[in-house]
Amino acid sequence: MPASLRPLLSEAQIQSRILELGNQISADYPDGTLYLICILKGACFFLADLARAIHRDAFIDFMGISSYGRGKSTSGEVRVTKDLDISIEGADVLIIEDIVDSGVTLNYLTHLLKQRHPKTIRVVALLDKPERRLRPVDVAYVGFEIPDEFVVGYGLDYAEKYRNLRDVCVLEES
Ligand code: IMP
Ligand code: MG
Repeated sequence: MPASLRPLLSEAQIQSRILELGNQISADYPDGTLYLICILKGACFFLADLARAIHRDAFIDFMGISSYGRGKSTSGEVRVTKDLDISIEGADVLIIEDIVDSGVTLNYLTHLLKQRHPKTIRVVALLDKPERRLRPVDVAYVGFEIPDEFVVGYGLDYAEKYRNLRDVCVLEES
C-alpha cells in the first residue's frame, strides 16, 4: 500500500503541551505515591517526556495490552501481554496512553486495575479521538483532541512502522 504522511502535530507543539500537562499533574498530586503506568508500546515516548515534565517523585512501570492486531480499527478483544511488576495497592495511579479511540482498551484496563485497590486511578492520553468512542472512558488529562483520522509517529504505529517519527502525522493511503 503506498502511503503518504501529512504532519498534524509538530514536535514543538507536542513538547510544549507535555510541559503544561506535567505542571498540571504535579499540582494535582502534591503528595502520596504516584505510579506512572505506561501502556506499551505506543506510549513509550510520551512516558519518557511526560515523566520528566512532572516535578515530584514518581514510580514507573509498564503494561502490555493488545487490542488491535495489524489493522486500523479495534478487534474488540483485549489481551494483557505484559503485566505490572509492582503492586499498585494504595497508590495514586496514572495510566499513560498514546491515544483513546474506541475506548475498549482503557475501559478494560481501568476495570482490571481497580480490582487491585489503588487509592486513585486516572488516565492521561496524548491524543483523543472522541468521535470514535464505543465504550465510556474517563480521561482526566488529554494532550490534544484530534479528528477521526489514523495517525502515526511519536510512538504510534501502523503495522509496527513509523513509531520513531518525531511529529504526529496522518497516514493517508494514496
Ligand atoms: P481503543 O481500544 O480503540 O481506544 O484503541 C486504543 C489503541 O489503539 C491505542 O492505544 C493505539 O495503540 C491504537 N490506535 C487507535 N487509534 C490509532 C491511530 O490513529 N493510530 C495508531 N494507533 C491507534
Ligand atoms: Mg496503544
